[in-house]
Amino acid sequence: MRSSWYKKISLIFGRRPPPNRLLLYLVSVLVLIALLGSFSLKGYDSATASVRPDIYLNYRRLKEQTLSDYLELKKLGASRVNDFALCGKERENYVPCYNVSANLLAGLKDGEEFDRHCELSRDQQHCLVRPPKDYKIPLLWPSGRDVVWSGNVKLSKDQFLSSGSMTKRLMLLEENQISFHSDDDMIIDGVKDYSHQIAEMIGLGSDAEFREAGVRNVLDIGCGFGSFSAHLLSLKLMAVCMAAYESTGSQVQLALERGLPAIIGNFISRQLPFPSLSYDMVHCTQCGIFWDDKDGMFLIEVDRVLKPGGYFVLTSPRSRKQESSAGTKKGSTSTPFEEFTEKLCWNLLAQQEDTFVWQKATDVQCYVSIKQSTIPLCNGEDGQSYYRPLAQCISGTSSKRWISIQNRSSGSLSSAELEVHGIDPEDFSEDLEQWRSALRNYWSLLSPLIFSDHPKRPGDEDPMPPYNMVRNVMDLSAHYGGLNAALLEARKSVWVMNVVPLGERNTLPVILDQGFAGVLHNWCEPFPTYPRTYDMLHAKGLLSHLATQSCNMVDLMLEMDRILRPEGWVIISDKVGPIETARTLVTQLRWEARVIDLQNGSDQRLLVCQKQFVRK
Ligand SMILES: *[C@@H]1O[C@H](CO)[C@@H](O)[C@H](O)[C@H]1NC(C)=O
Ligand SMILES: *[C@@H]1O[C@H](CO)[C@@H](O)[C@H](O)[C@H]1NC(C)=O
Ligand SMILES: *[C@@H]1O[C@H](CO)[C@@H](O)[C@H](O)[C@H]1NC(C)=O
Repeated sequence: MRSSWYKKISLIFGRRPPPNRLLLYLVSVLVLIALLGSFSLKGYDSATASVRPDIYLNYRRLKEQTLSDYLELKKLGASRVNDFALCGKERENYVPCYNVSANLLAGLKDGEEFDRHCELSRDQQHCLVRPPKDYKIPLLWPSGRDVVWSGNVKLSKDQFLSSGSMTKRLMLLEENQISFHSDDDMIIDGVKDYSHQIAEMIGLGSDAEFREAGVRNVLDIGCGFGSFSAHLLSLKLMAVCMAAYESTGSQVQLALERGLPAIIGNFISRQLPFPSLSYDMVHCTQCGIFWDDKDGMFLIEVDRVLKPGGYFVLTSPRSRKQESSAGTKKGSTSTPFEEFTEKLCWNLLAQQEDTFVWQKATDVQCYVSIKQSTIPLCNGEDGQSYYRPLAQCISGTSSKRWISIQNRSSGSLSSAELEVHGIDPEDFSEDLEQWRSALRNYWSLLSPLIFSDHPKRPGDEDPMPPYNMVRNVMDLSAHYGGLNAALLEARKSVWVMNVVPLGERNTLPVILDQGFAGVLHNWCEPFPTYPRTYDMLHAKGLLSHLATQSCNMVDLMLEMDRILRPEGWVIISDKVGPIETARTLVTQLRWEARVIDLQNGSDQRLLVCQKQFVRK
């Protein structure tokens, strides 16, 4: 206990001359006690009259608990042999489920060997993925968007030099840092021009009008190193980068390191883990997909995730060449794209040089009437698109969510829109209210650790920049995305990966319709991301949910450790039982942890943890 809390406080005072350690330790315990005391009161005791005596009670109770925790840990000292060992150096950038040699051995071919196959790489090795030797804590947002530590990402100098695409040229390697052109640079910025060009092709005056035109979320397939996404984020769009697993020079790893939303994914043989009618724009710049392969299945998949009236933007010098090199693709005529996109009811809005912009039809009749003979409509309403094979049919046409992006209400979801999702508007706003209050509590609990210099009292304004050390947040069980909504309302400069666990009510459509990032995921399996890519993990009720799914809590906690960066935070909210179990486990993970009783008579507890920076 002593060393852990001392370390946190030293983190806060890190750049000061070293003061007396014992004094710091005492101060830290007092600050913590005061904070925890005010936390439990602030959030759950609105009757201010009763506050005074409770502070005292809380204070004494927590002081006693701190002492007993300390003694308990000392007693446990000998049993720390049970800690999980660190993995070998070869696992520094380990992403489970992508073992090509195992996939080939199992007979997978035609590109499927590059797909995610968790069932073929069951991993019995229980070890903690360690950071690379020269790993450094990322810079704070927004500086971290433009400069990353080159030791943190697996990218060789050779790869850097040999790269040539537009986004890659915007990257500069110097000593131990990689810097990217910031959006505010005065010099000519290729990404800005490009974004502006797309806006004009859609018929807008400038890219600042994307939002008004109904474009709120963008799926950026193969995002280079994220500069286009970064620009779209600055326009208040949610751009999620999705790229295949790459063992080095990964686009997803670099984007996340920059604090940009990204996830590993591909659609070689299976559908993307999003429901149909999810995105306002799908974008691909030389993203390495052969769009006319497999009888246009990949374009059909793009059509599936696009909302009515949404845009598909393709920039590719190949697409023109392909058209002229006759006979290389089976059944292709001189303009295979044009023909196929017409069958998909896409309207080619514009073509400029290598960039094409199509718009998906807003009128469902287009699919229902004339086109039936060429590409059939899918049977029934599509459920959860998780590990579902790509389908040769058009989805979403009978969905209640068939609303063109130009016709949606601006701002938050209207009651009518919520009813489309089968959600009671009252229930929805109650949920958000709960999250507002939960967030205030979380933040006051964490802010002495997150913010520099002085501990922040609940209700205080955030201190001046540098804002905070949390940028990439994952909500492992996101429900309606209430935590994300509350974070945005509170103007925290974070983004949230909203994960909807398989087996729970599929609320992903309502999450995406709010313009948030989200994905379906089976938490009995590893998450498709690189190690150390999230600053904070949040899981409410997930442990209880997983207890019904017959999968192993040890695996889940190890996976959380893998995706959390050193010194990152975890907040687990659950019933006493699972929290106690988790608490024992996190000790083995070498996390610093504290159980917090919400003191409102419920059996809910919070487990707040910080991952330590363990090197060996
Ligand atoms: C990948 O699979 C091969 C063959 O099954 C195995 O030998 C190897 O250890 C696996 N690699 C990892 C990183 O799990
Ligand atoms: C959009 O709204 C207009 C006016 O309410 C309506 O006439 C039109 O049919 C709507 N379009 C779609 C695709 O829903
Ligand atoms: C106690 O607080 C938690 C967290 O907000 C909440 O979920 C729970 O319903 C509350 N319990 C009672 C009995 O008020």
